[in-house]
Amino acid sequence: MKGKPDYYWRKSKEEGYPARSVFKLQEIQQKHGPVKPAGRVLDLGASPGSWSLYLLDILAGGGSVTGVDLNEPDGKLLARKNYRFLLGDFTSEEVERKIREAGPYDAIVSDAAPSTTGNRTLDTARSAEIARGVIAICERCLVPGGNCVLKIFQGGEEREVLARMRGLFAAAKAFKPKASRSDSMETYFIGMGFTPAAARD
Ligand SMILES: C[S@@+](CC[C@H](N)C(=O)[O-])C[C@H]1O[C@@H](n2cnc3c(N)ncnc32)[C@H](O)[C@@H]1O
Repeated sequence: MKGKPDYYWRKSKEEGYPARSVFKLQEIQQKHGPVKPAGRVLDLGASPGSWSLYLLDILAGGGSVTGVDLNEPDGKLLARKNYRFLLGDFTSEEVERKIREAGPYDAIVSDAAPSTTGNRTLDTARSAEIARGVIAICERCLVPGGNCVLKIFQGGEEREVLARMRGLFAAAKAFKPKASRSDSMETYFIGMGFTPAAARD
């Protein structure tokens, strides 16, 4: 865990989630509702698995969640019904093919982040690259009208990334949940109402 244990960290332990980041997605879902009942959801950068566990909880037995990460998730997730996990880099051709085969998806969420180096220029550039990878997967795997949530570090190319999302979704905006530490450079972009290229113009 990065940073000191705080209210959200303690709450995540009490509620059985492996990471405090669950409360970021919870707030996004409560305020913006990107995940619909019985939806098929792709969770990019899923490990240790709090977002995936929360998604399975709100889907309540309907729909499905596909998680992807470079690292294995918490073991209890793998035993859950309606859950599939793909190990690897979602920007690689091989993993992207598996993601496409398991799709399409009604919502794609990404909490994926690069390992930070402390060099802000490098860290924000890597984060923007990951965000562009998420958007590319949205273009290939989201259903028309589908929604996207992605994490991005501020201080780099985030304006261009948001502009790209505005071209693909009926509405796209930035949102920083309360559970995101105020000293963290992360924010989330939420795109609602995906419009495939063929239906644009
Ligand atoms: C902040 S953690 C995600 C926490 C997760 N949302 C949760 O609630 O447990 C970010 C994750 O992104 C993953 N990640 C970063 N780049 C990735 C990539 N290209 N492909 C797959 N996973 C990636 C990292 O391995 C890391 O586990």
